Amino acid sequence: MDGDIERILLHHDQITERVRQLGREIAAVYDGREPALTIVPILSGSIIFLADLIRELPLKMKIALVQVSAYAGRSTEASEPQTLIELTGDVAGRDVLIVDDILDSGRTLRRVRAMIEQRQPASIRIAVLLRKPSKAPPDIQADFVGFDIEDAFVVGYGLDFDDHYRNFPHIGILRSELMP
Ligand code: IMP
Ligand code: MG
Repeated sequence: MDGDIERILLHHDQITERVRQLGREIAAVYDGREPALTIVPILSGSIIFLADLIRELPLKMKIALVQVSAYAGRSTEASEPQTLIELTGDVAGRDVLIVDDILDSGRTLRRVRAMIEQRQPASIRIAVLLRKPSKAPPDIQADFVGFDIEDAFVVGYGLDFDDHYRNFPHIGILRSELMP
């Protein structure tokens, strides 16, 4: 697996440190709020970020899952996102924090935010580990951002290509000859 990576952009240690800081930033916003925060991770790319982030949050919280897929199989070009699993928990009247791995075209987050807005939450915020600033659209602003990165297709720490490399501990750029 490691041999498929052309260059490491973010080392695991850097990610760990930044996720710890994000935990503090997020906790400062939601500390003491009632009812408890509901985190909505977008599956599957957010799983590793989610697992690390929530253990840095000393808050009472719930998780409601949603699965949206923007990339079909071996594609690295985003298509219109498909909802594969509808929201698994009730968010009415609650503070909601949507968690995703990366903000790219914004279509995935736009779809999930609209789905949650329909259910009348108390508030909605967005946390992403990565943002590709060149593409981030003006109507989808992330409230918490781990790292701004260059406009390259990246894998690892939850991010996949054709469902592989999610378990690569760092975030790296895949060798171009492996992509279509
Ligand atoms: P968007 O809808 O274009 O903002 O894309 C967001 C979704 O596409 C994310 O939830 C990721 O799962 C996936 N994605 C976007 N860019 C990358 C990338 O560079 N590597 C892997 N997955 C990506
Ligand atoms: Mg995703």
